[in-house]
Amino acid sequence: MKNYMMGAAVAFCSLLPASHSFAWSGSVLVSTPNTSLLLHANEGEDLRFAYFGDRIEENQIHQIHDAWDGLNRTTYPTFGSPANQLFALQAVHADGNWTTDLTVDQVETTDTGNARQTVITLKDRVYPFTVKLYYKAYNDIDMIETWSEISHTEKKTVVLKRFDSGHFMIRRGDVWISHLHGSWGDEAGVTTEPLTPGIKLIENVDGARNAHADHAEVMFSLDGKPQENEGRVIGAALCWSGNYAIRMATDNNFVHRIFAGIDSETAEYNLAPKEVFATPKLALTYSQEGLSGASRNFHRWARHAGMLCHGDRVRDILLNSWEGVYLDVDEEKMSQMMEDIAAMGGELFVMDDGWFGDKYRRVQDNSSLGDWVVDKKKLPNGLENLVQTAQKNGIKFGIWIEPEAVNSKSELFEKHPEWALQALDRPLIYGRGGTQLLLDVCNPEVQDFIFGIVDNLLTQHPQIAYIKWDANVELRNYGSTYLPRDKQSHIYIDYHRGLEKIMQRIRAKYPDVVIQACASGGGRANYGVMPYFDEFWVSDNTDALQRIYMQWGSSYFYPSNAMAQHISAAPNHQTGRVIPIKFRCDVAMSGRLGLELQPSKMTEEERAQSTQAIKDYKTVRDVIQLGNLYRLVSPYDHKGIASLMYTDDAKDKAVFFAYKMDNFVNQVVPRVCLRGLDPSKNYRVKELNVRTGARPCFLDGKTFSGRLLMNTGIELPLGGDYASCVLELTAE
Ligand code: GLA
Repeated sequence: MKNYMMGAAVAFCSLLPASHSFAWSGSVLVSTPNTSLLLHANEGEDLRFAYFGDRIEENQIHQIHDAWDGLNRTTYPTFGSPANQLFALQAVHADGNWTTDLTVDQVETTDTGNARQTVITLKDRVYPFTVKLYYKAYNDIDMIETWSEISHTEKKTVVLKRFDSGHFMIRRGDVWISHLHGSWGDEAGVTTEPLTPGIKLIENVDGARNAHADHAEVMFSLDGKPQENEGRVIGAALCWSGNYAIRMATDNNFVHRIFAGIDSETAEYNLAPKEVFATPKLALTYSQEGLSGASRNFHRWARHAGMLCHGDRVRDILLNSWEGVYLDVDEEKMSQMMEDIAAMGGELFVMDDGWFGDKYRRVQDNSSLGDWVVDKKKLPNGLENLVQTAQKNGIKFGIWIEPEAVNSKSELFEKHPEWALQALDRPLIYGRGGTQLLLDVCNPEVQDFIFGIVDNLLTQHPQIAYIKWDANVELRNYGSTYLPRDKQSHIYIDYHRGLEKIMQRIRAKYPDVVIQACASGGGRANYGVMPYFDEFWVSDNTDALQRIYMQWGSSYFYPSNAMAQHISAAPNHQTGRVIPIKFRCDVAMSGRLGLELQPSKMTEEERAQSTQAIKDYKTVRDVIQLGNLYRLVSPYDHKGIASLMYTDDAKDKAVFFAYKMDNFVNQVVPRVCLRGLDPSKNYRVKELNVRTGARPCFLDGKTFSGRLLMNTGIELPLGGDYASCVLELTAE
């Protein structure tokens, strides 16, 4: 038995009573403040998974086994040892052998800032083939990141056919999953279902964006039907922006087995000797406080572990030009919009699509992507003039680009047709506008070009404070003129590694510019790219009612300062629904507030209400954007309302939101119990964004104890269609 000399988070068998030493010698305990993951790492044996859940101490390890010894199975199962099992790794060795048999070689731990990293090295019994499994446990956040590094020194290439980031188990019982499913305009819908025998697969094969249909994240409720604030929940997020597969297998044993990684049906990797293949991180959390508790862990991790760029900063209130003018951008309209948003109290104006193209002007969505030069007809005085107008109005300026794409009708495509991804020897398949293609981001020259787009903009106009980075096309043409024929199977992997390299270069040179990940709406809400982006556009659908559902789902995994939410026009451009301006404001205020309309077409009431919303939002923005989220009444439960709230860490300030989801005579809507407050404090209520011309609601100015608010609850001032309220609670 090897003596793994490790720190406090890792126990080893010499600490344990002899009678137990066979079953759980070499125990590796990986812990965060409230969670623990227990593995068995006996040298020369396979690495075994024993437990993930509530925190245990080293001297309690034996209790896990005394309670039940059954959850003790291979942590990183490989094809071939034995062959009749599901596997996380499948490799074809240089000599053609399809089987791999890994045993523990060594365990190391290091302390890195606010985390402890445990690395378990597994080696094949016969081949010079190594897998290192990483477990990074945060000291101050309940999150464990796990991933693998695969390498070898065989004589020739080893073909990786499956290469999951990680695998873990959950004891069978009444286990339910909640995951996010949708489509363009209907992103991030919450789907809940029990895990039943068989394999549940969540995957994405878009190639470029991966969150329109299904998200690469799942919540597991261990105590039956998912509840927002009760029950044990395990949350898992695969941090990858490309194709992925999350497999949840329920077999004839006592466990659900969860595998997560890059999708390997659409990719295989030829690993050269000494090359290291690192899989994306799989982030795991656990909470006893229901789905909301697991979400708070994800939010804290996003904000404080670098998983969301500038995660601990509040965002500006902006006007984006898309739904206001679409492609009909010109200097006069842009200047007017800047003046208007400044007058309403906004802080940033973003010029969306339509500003570029010389030989081919961007007047429709079928040309010019790739030609990132100003359209002189629309903007005769260039970007400089707009940047100055923004400055004159005391606001910041932002701009839209779609740098990974090219239209066949563009100067770029004429010059570099080989830069577009293209199936070898086959005709091109076009996307948006019948002309849109994706650039071959695997190619370092293309990476330089894309970096150059941002670099040129920001060196020429250092005042540009914000970039909306769009991605409106799938990877439709599978083939790279850059990659050799024997590496065509790397495209889905190398594309995203290329994208990451570009983003790293941008962030190294421009650490402060705010960048939004847009992808025809919410297609890029994933933790593969969020370390480089400040926020994502939740959806192209700005209908406030439908947004409540989409924002609810997105908040399962993403903090509110990452979620761009805009007040838009009535009738709504996507659904045609006419929703009162107060409701539209109140929905947008629950995340990163912005506007998406033409201010010159607003009614007086709309302008007054939006101005009020912006003013009030500024007073509580830090609580909303950086606070702790408690989802209270889910719109998916169809109780007639939806409600959520944020509190600050000190529990001195909270912001509460409630929305009427439907309206009937004598409708009984639930009384809502608040969460996350201090029962011993008294909170004074102030209504925010009071409807223009109306008096504040009956709760305004009253004081309630935290205990009453949480245990007895409050009646809501929600009479009528599309009623809504925003309440600020301040401890006295
Ligand atoms: C995508 C985005 C929109 C807008 C348009 C511009 O659809 O999601 O917000 O930027 O592109 O073409």
